[in-house]
Amino acid sequence: MYLSLTSVNRVDRSAGMFLVMAGLVGAAQYPLSSVTQLCRNQPGDPGFPTRLHWSELSAELEGRLIPVYPSAKACRELQCTDADWVSASYRVVIPGEMHAVCPPIDNGTVCGQGNVPLYGINATTASHIQTGVKFAVEHNLRVVVKSSGHDFLGRSTQKNSLMLWTHYLKNVSFTDSFFVGDANLGSTVSVGSGCSLREVYAAAKEKGKYVVGGTAATVAAAGGYVQGAGHSVFSPIFGLAADNVLEFRVVLADGNLVTVNAVSHPDLFWALRGGGAGSWGVAISATFRTYPNFPGTFHTAIIVADSHNQAGALMAAHAEHIFDWDDVRAGQYFFFYKTPNTLVVHTGFANLTGDDARAQMAPFLEAAVSLGATVAFENTTTGIVNDIVTTPDDPAGRNLIMGSRLIPESTYRDHPKEIGKTYTALLDQGVEGCVCACCKVSENKKISSAVNPKWRTAKTHIVLFRTWEDTALISEIVQVKQQLTDEHVPLLAHMAGETDSGAYSNEADVQEPNFQETFFGPNYARLSEVKAAYDPHDLFIVGAGVGSERWDKEGMCRVV
Ligand SMILES: Cc1cc2nc3c(=O)[nH]c(=O)nc-3n(C[C@H](O)[C@H](O)[C@H](O)COP(=O)(O)OP(=O)(O)OC[C@H]3O[C@@H](n4cnc5c(N)ncnc54)[C@H](O)[C@@H]3O)c2cc1C
Ligand SMILES: *[C@@H]1O[C@H](CO)[C@@H](O)[C@H](O)[C@H]1NC(C)=O
Ligand SMILES: *[C@@H]1O[C@H](CO)[C@@H](O)[C@H](O)[C@H]1NC(C)=O
Ligand SMILES: *[C@@H]1O[C@H](CO)[C@@H](O)[C@H](O)[C@H]1NC(C)=O
Ligand SMILES: *[C@@H]1O[C@H](CO)[C@@H](O)[C@H](O)[C@H]1NC(C)=O
Ligand SMILES: *[C@@H]1O[C@H](CO)[C@@H](O)[C@H](O)[C@H]1NC(C)=O
Repeated sequence: MYLSLTSVNRVDRSAGMFLVMAGLVGAAQYPLSSVTQLCRNQPGDPGFPTRLHWSELSAELEGRLIPVYPSAKACRELQCTDADWVSASYRVVIPGEMHAVCPPIDNGTVCGQGNVPLYGINATTASHIQTGVKFAVEHNLRVVVKSSGHDFLGRSTQKNSLMLWTHYLKNVSFTDSFFVGDANLGSTVSVGSGCSLREVYAAAKEKGKYVVGGTAATVAAAGGYVQGAGHSVFSPIFGLAADNVLEFRVVLADGNLVTVNAVSHPDLFWALRGGGAGSWGVAISATFRTYPNFPGTFHTAIIVADSHNQAGALMAAHAEHIFDWDDVRAGQYFFFYKTPNTLVVHTGFANLTGDDARAQMAPFLEAAVSLGATVAFENTTTGIVNDIVTTPDDPAGRNLIMGSRLIPESTYRDHPKEIGKTYTALLDQGVEGCVCACCKVSENKKISSAVNPKWRTAKTHIVLFRTWEDTALISEIVQVKQQLTDEHVPLLAHMAGETDSGAYSNEADVQEPNFQETFFGPNYARLSEVKAAYDPHDLFIVGAGVGSERWDKEGMCRVV
């Protein structure tokens, strides 16, 4: 993902957080079993923790129980600037900051506590998480797990829940011989689930190593990213992040901290690799394979079309040329802006110089020019992979939702013109894609994991966006969301050319109607079994995640 949309949500900035303590006063405790109760306890419910319970928890955690404020409130207290507000690096230390949240609850005028939890645990050790899990089970609370809060589906937040915040689990350690059982799996890095990709790349650089990861600076390598699959511009060379993870340390719903790998809890290890973020337990750390680092070039081109029709022709040409880069296993992020009709293409080449990269791109750029489009900008950045793969910061604070499909390689081979036509139809939205499947990702189909098998036959992952203005009414936002689900995503599905080409659960529509099949394909039944074994009472429920069909949209009450 190489997002560059700029719409900024200022709605929750003017918000107060007067609701934070409301409902906590005077609640008496009636310990009811979380197994038999239909709903999680919320403020006002008899089983909701009393002030005394909270203060006991706070004491046990030595002050690491913290109130969670919506970004706006935190931002106002911190006196953040407009630049801070749209900076993910700035916002990532704010516990209530979420990438895709705060649907204004009062028609855009007052945001209040919005969709943000009341309390969180600012964990620095696994035992802080264990304490939080035990407290949540004892009091039948909804929990959310948050690392960076960058989730596009809103899965790292929920009103009235207890947040288990892993941002400060920052351990990083390298070894040249990592053992699972008796097998030496070679060179690895173990990273705490709070480490951002940028931090991991920087640490690896000092060791002359590289770890497969996304372009984002602030996404957490060992958080939701890898559990969903984790694509990278270098996935055509190294595969997905989930193909490269060798071990997790996880706090389970029963509060135990376990090591999860091919020999220890192998069923959970299978599920954690692609079975969806946030459904299994709290990852404390993950261990990834490392590779010797290498120089490379990032090539950027900006191409402008003069009409929707020409834009469609441009995207058909792009589809026809998309195999040009397979020989060198280049990955690519490409983004279509609606106004003006502009295609931005970032391509990552391992071991190539700037001139080599330009030569690789030339046939496509010539095709673009010959159909009448203009190459408005072309540039290359050459350097060590650890530096060029990531950005200094990520954009944040936007009103943005997305839907996606994995587009099969066969569609690109057989129907490139169809792809162009779909783009013409979709140009009212922002459309982004990446060439981050194919090649090594397909070769890795032999790995037994819960990664959606559609990844193994895909050429690209295509994402489309809807945004809204800060002044939008709730009714308008609901309508935009419904249009995304009912009208736009089906166009992508049609372009994919199969009944269900599947989608990447981390960059997708949380309202995806048949998410079990679309996100998890044939793995859903086995994932449900693993879920039943490790989280029998559904402590870890997220939108469109395994087991979520048993719960309401908020994950607060069972529906079956
Ligand atoms: C700017 C940007 C760029 C991106 N680029 C890429 C990319 O290049 N490739 C790619 O594949 N994806 C990319 N993504 C999508 C990314 O994979 C998802 O947003 C992912 O959910 C982020 O995981 P996180 O843990 O950082 O976020 P969070 O919002 O903290 O968590 C996301 C989900 O994971 C769960 N989770 C978080 N931490 C833990 C934990 N410690 N244990 C268990 N569950 C946890 C949460 O409960 C939630 O369900 C990008 C996102 C953004 C915002
Ligand atoms: C504002 O919200 C209230 C309550 O949620 C609703 O009754 C009302 O119709 C909304 N007004 C507009 C203009 O959407
Ligand atoms: C969380 O803990 C870290 C590490 O102790 C600390 O630096 C940070 O300020 C804390 N954040 C909040 C919001 O309490
Ligand atoms: C971080 O590393 C230290 C030293 O190896 C270890 O004692 C500690 O338990 C680790 N913390 C976490 C949260 O993994
Ligand atoms: C880069 O080139 C070196 C030297 O030829 C080679 O060992 C390495 O595997 C290459 N790396 C990649 C990612 O292609
Ligand atoms: C083009 O790339 C070079 C090398 O990375 C960089 O110094 C320069 O600022 C870039 N130019 C533009 C206009 O981005």
